[in-house]
Amino acid sequence: MKTEQFNFSFEVYHSSNELKTDDQQLLHKARTETNHAYAPYSNFFVGAVAKLNNGAVVAGSNQENASFPVGICAERVLLSSVSSQYPGIAIDTIAISYDNRDGESNRPVSPCGICRQTLLEYEQRQQQPIRLILSGMEGEVYVIDKASLLLPLSFTYENMK
Ligand code: THU
Repeated sequence: MKTEQFNFSFEVYHSSNELKTDDQQLLHKARTETNHAYAPYSNFFVGAVAKLNNGAVVAGSNQENASFPVGICAERVLLSSVSSQYPGIAIDTIAISYDNRDGESNRPVSPCGICRQTLLEYEQRQQQPIRLILSGMEGEVYVIDKASLLLPLSFTYENMK
């Protein structure tokens, strides 16, 4: 028997003011993008904004439905948009924020399981890590070097060969 271990480090900033200017601007856009979410059922408005290798910036927000499983998270709305609008252009960084209109929005939340799986495959497809900047409307900011770190022991295409 042996024991394997998985760990990773990430940066924690006290507030967005400590970020470098590019990251600050991207997070600001993600915070603003929460206003485009359609979230009347959860009241949890999520904004995700990607900066691509060619400098383009693409936004996405969560879109809910009265039939709950039909709703889509901001991250997957974003990835589908990037893939459709900028095929072949890699994503450098994604900033994700949320506005919880029934509660607090002052600490980072990280992508749900389905979005982690989607981010992982996107990263593999583009053969370039996707940096993540996570924060609420205020407060601490997490910066994670690559999205796949959030999904250890993942199931991928490689496993199906
Ligand atoms: N949501 C996202 O958009 N991204 C996440 O990573 C977590 C959850 C959305 C889905 C749903 O519309 C609402 O937030 C509450 O779960």
